[in-house]
Amino acid sequence: MKATVRPYRPEDRDAVRRICFLTGYMGDPADWYWRDERSFADVWSSYYTDAEPESLFVADADGRVVGYLLGCVDSGRAWNPVRIGARHAVGRLCLFRPGTAGFLWRTILDVALGRLLRRPAMEGSFSDPRWPSHLHINLLPEARGSGAGRALMTAWLDRLRAVGSPGCHVETLAENGRAIAFFKAMGFERHGEPRLVPGERSREGGRLHGQVLVQPLVRQRTQPEGVPAPMLERGT
Ligand SMILES: CC(C)(COP(=O)(O)OP(=O)(O)OC[C@H]1O[C@@H](n2cnc3c(N)ncnc32)[C@H](O)[C@@H]1OP(=O)(O)O)[C@@H](O)C(=O)NCCC(=O)NCCS
Repeated sequence: MKATVRPYRPEDRDAVRRICFLTGYMGDPADWYWRDERSFADVWSSYYTDAEPESLFVADADGRVVGYLLGCVDSGRAWNPVRIGARHAVGRLCLFRPGTAGFLWRTILDVALGRLLRRPAMEGSFSDPRWPSHLHINLLPEARGSGAGRALMTAWLDRLRAVGSPGCHVETLAENGRAIAFFKAMGFERHGEPRLVPGERSREGGRLHGQVLVQPLVRQRTQPEGVPAPMLERGT
């Protein structure tokens, strides 16, 4: 399949949310452990579609969105996914919805036990001023392996250089070997050791680990139009 990369448009929102859910477990559907699609898509995509759409790129195949890169220039501004999840857990009673409740309760239990036993876990989002930007990238299976991932990443890294970001990080599961290989091919390097991710399990029930990868960026010499000043100042 040949897909082209273009900026996000508001009418892509439903497609982005659907792809988020259909690829939410290392590229496979998330429904087997988190059935409530609305909360899943809100946790993982709402900040990017609703607050920073200018950092969102889609892969388009004959007018159909088949993948996306959700970007955030300054991770300090991103909405906290834990808070979004908590709102759904309580406000929409996801803590009691079959197919989703198990994951949420397991997450709470993992966090509590991890703290009690002092086991290092991935709680909250990664934060380091050397790599303040981050991204999520997902393609439908039929769009993988033909260069769309590279094209999305190129568009994103070009934007980051243009706005003067000093670096970008990405968080993925250490068990997602294909993704790690892709990010390495795109210039990212592992940063730190893999750490347990509360709540997450493999289909066989084993614990899963988060891995941070980072990439420093060289700023463009000329200041492009519409560049947010604070990011340029931080990047100096
Ligand atoms: C990861 C993903 C975005 C990569 O996109 P893609 O379109 O398949 O990748 P591309 O075809 O553009 O490949 C880009 C490079 O990555 C490398 N690469 C991609 N998948 C790879 C794999 N499984 N093993 C080794 N290298 C791989 C390619 O060799 C290629 O390098 P090259 O251009 O120098 O030949 C896509 O496969 C995907 O959506 N996977 C499922 C969701 C996911 O895991 N997302 C990341 C989690 S945060």
